[in-house]
Amino acid sequence: MSLEIKKIAVIGAGTMGHGIAELAAIAGYKVSIVDISDEILQNALNKIQWSLGKLYEKGQVKESVEIIISRISKTINLIEAVRDADFVIEAIIEKLEEKRRVFQIIDENSPPHTILATNTSSLPITEIASATRRPDKVIGMHFFNPPVLMPLVEIIRGKDTSDFTVQITNELAKKFGKQTVIVNKDIPGFIVNRILARVFNSACNIVTEGKADIIEVDSTARYKLGFPMGIFELADYSGIDIFYYVLQVLVERGFKVHGCNLFLEKFKAGEYGVKTGKGFYTYPSPGKFVKPELPKEKSEKLNPLYIIALAINEAAWMVREGIASKEDIDKACRLGLGYPKGVFEYADEFGIDNVVKILEEIKKEKGWEEYSPDPLLIQMVNEGRLGIKSGKGFYEYGKFEERKLSTIILRIEEPLAWIFLNRPERLNALNLEMVKELSQVLDELELNERIRVLIITGMGRAFCAGADVTGFQGLTPFLAAILSRRFQELFNKIDFYTKPIIAALNGYTLGGGLEMAMACDFRIASEQAELGQPEINLGLIPGAGGTQRLSRLIGEGKAKELIYTGERIPAKEALNFGLVNKVVSHDELLNEARRFALKIAEKSPLSLLAAKYSIKFGLESNIWSGMALESSLFGLLFSTEDFIEGVSAFLEKRKPKFKGK
Ligand code: COA
Repeated sequence: MSLEIKKIAVIGAGTMGHGIAELAAIAGYKVSIVDISDEILQNALNKIQWSLGKLYEKGQVKESVEIIISRISKTINLIEAVRDADFVIEAIIEKLEEKRRVFQIIDENSPPHTILATNTSSLPITEIASATRRPDKVIGMHFFNPPVLMPLVEIIRGKDTSDFTVQITNELAKKFGKQTVIVNKDIPGFIVNRILARVFNSACNIVTEGKADIIEVDSTARYKLGFPMGIFELADYSGIDIFYYVLQVLVERGFKVHGCNLFLEKFKAGEYGVKTGKGFYTYPSPGKFVKPELPKEKSEKLNPLYIIALAINEAAWMVREGIASKEDIDKACRLGLGYPKGVFEYADEFGIDNVVKILEEIKKEKGWEEYSPDPLLIQMVNEGRLGIKSGKGFYEYGKFEERKLSTIILRIEEPLAWIFLNRPERLNALNLEMVKELSQVLDELELNERIRVLIITGMGRAFCAGADVTGFQGLTPFLAAILSRRFQELFNKIDFYTKPIIAALNGYTLGGGLEMAMACDFRIASEQAELGQPEINLGLIPGAGGTQRLSRLIGEGKAKELIYTGERIPAKEALNFGLVNKVVSHDELLNEARRFALKIAEKSPLSLLAAKYSIKFGLESNIWSGMALESSLFGLLFSTEDFIEGVSAFLEKRKPKFKGK
């Protein structure tokens, strides 16, 4: 079955209506736009003209502004506008009674085949449809503001909406150049607003419960979750009053939220955010947005799962109830909210068991029912579907495989490879067997094109407590020098490896363990980790590069302090003088390492290598040789396919796919 759409009527010429009319005209349809006064309509047409001019300048529309705008006719006569329309999109005020009144008129005056869509963000489609005699042809079509630029449309079925209506509406939205998600049940807030409401409510509760302050929440959202804005920053930006009203409507329709009054307080005080000059942050003047300062280190304290666990729970409920597919929910998060990942992708990354743990913790503390982990999440945990770490969660991570050698475990999780030092009973002390196995595995991974970044970490409570002292007994000075060389060779291999290597320091990182970590490109430490060069306590000195790498990393004075005293320092102190790049909670360590590794893994392997060698060889020779190497490699990169891909992706506004060629 098909329906040929020639003419579209757009009812309401406000912010959304005029944008939708513009989209329809760009897509080549005849459009009739209706509102209650000529003045409003003229204003809308002026805005469309301005916007089309901008799009034309940028080459985003091919036809001239005049041709596109000539497809739009304006009228204050609703009946006339819908009389020969094949598709009607209503975008009037968000008041149910008003919408029902308009739908009744449209129904009575439009041809029987015409589909009637409502652009609502919160009202029940079914109740709007019941004002008509064609509820099967009534559908929700939720555009985002501004419709011309925002890529997503939520398509919502009412109770009686037919499959055919869904199909035609979906096709039309795609002709408008939009991506769509289908919401199968008419639930308040659909996908995007429900997820957003959960994230807001969680952020709010984190602050009122004293887990973190507003800046820490926002910094975590921005830096740990990669959200385009902090939660409170977004509230200020879009208007706290708007969020307040949207939430009110959701709550009136049965959406359960508990806790937090922060938004209500701001609302009552008339502090709506940017528009009033004050909200959660203060702005130079009303209407003038300046990004609040969010120091990156403020993102270290809060486990980001506290921000999104409730949204994941909500999304799991939607999937279990058949409201939307997991793919559509994730798409809605990416395109409607600008998140770099969908909630289920976050869930897989953080581990479903950890999501459940956080939800249960809050449920136990507060008794709020919306925090009861959804049965789907519980089932996944019981079945061992924990996310990336188990190879399967909401999505499958097919290439997950593990190989156990005698001293290490190699886990391939493309594009990452994990190496677990695995002598936990000896605190992963390094012996010659481990050196050999590490060396072999590194050689093998170096040639595997699908592996982009390596992560080394330890099983048990140590990263590595140094060289295996039990092997020291009976060594002659000459054999000890050879042993030192062997260790140095391995760590040099790590240092000059052609792919980035991250050390995830899960506990004791001592002696040879610290020397190995220092040869890696980055060190991310659990707050439980302790670092040191304790060789002095054995009547020795570091023998695997420690005297050289430590002094280069943290300077001569500090290096001497650590080496002469042999003392262990906690990760936080190591962070202060740059011995580690980052400290995170113990539970978060592997997730953080994975997140960071995945971020780097997206880059061109050739650029990463060129950057590494320029930095390293420059530091070890002199700035002039380093500069010469930098220029040569910079030039060389212009000959790569990755460079062409990088520039093309930038121009096409998409994410590049680098191949290392
Ligand atoms: N070589 C060989 N075995 C080691 C080791 C090393 N570098 N580090 C720890 N182990 C062994 C311990 O001997 C112990 O074995 P056991 O159970 O057979 O007695 C086991 O690992 C657990 O260590 P233990 O000392 O009981 O744990 P702890 O929590 O009390 O102390 C450390 C942890 C790291 C402080 C302590 O083990 C230590 O100082 N290790 C030596 C670190 C060192 O000097 N490294 C440089 C070597 S050049």
